[in-house]
Amino acid sequence: MRIAIASDHAAVALKAALAGWLREQGHEVEDLGTDGEASVDYPDFGYKLAAHVAAGKATRGIALCGTGIGISIAVNRHPEMRCALVSEPLSAALAREHNDANVLAMGARIIGIEMARACITAFLATPFGGDRHARRVAKLGKAPV
Ligand code: RB5
Repeated sequence: MRIAIASDHAAVALKAALAGWLREQGHEVEDLGTDGEASVDYPDFGYKLAAHVAAGKATRGIALCGTGIGISIAVNRHPEMRCALVSEPLSAALAREHNDANVLAMGARIIGIEMARACITAFLATPFGGDRHARRVAKLGKAPV
């Protein structure tokens, strides 16, 4: 699968670990930064990831920051993004099955590497349930402003 991954400085070590692990599994991974521990602003990386996935350059995105909250909000500003912030694998699976989530967000200050891997494994393996969920997901793309 083509996976794009992005983080702010708070999650740069988790991002590197997850990118390496995903590549070992045979996925094509594009790391959109940040590249070091210098302080950056999570909206910049959330917007970059959202544009990348919306353009079809990746099938799925992984968004990381300290809590996962800021970058998930940033990704979800894009109308085509359905970014789910999770900290355990059941939510990651249901985000795919019910919400057709295209981006998974996690917090590096909240969960460890093993839990992050378990969340990603569930996220990548679970198909969208369609049916009644499809009607609801279609409405997410037409939010009133
Ligand atoms: C950065 O210190 C921190 O605020 C950020 O990573 C994130 O937790 C925001 O939601």
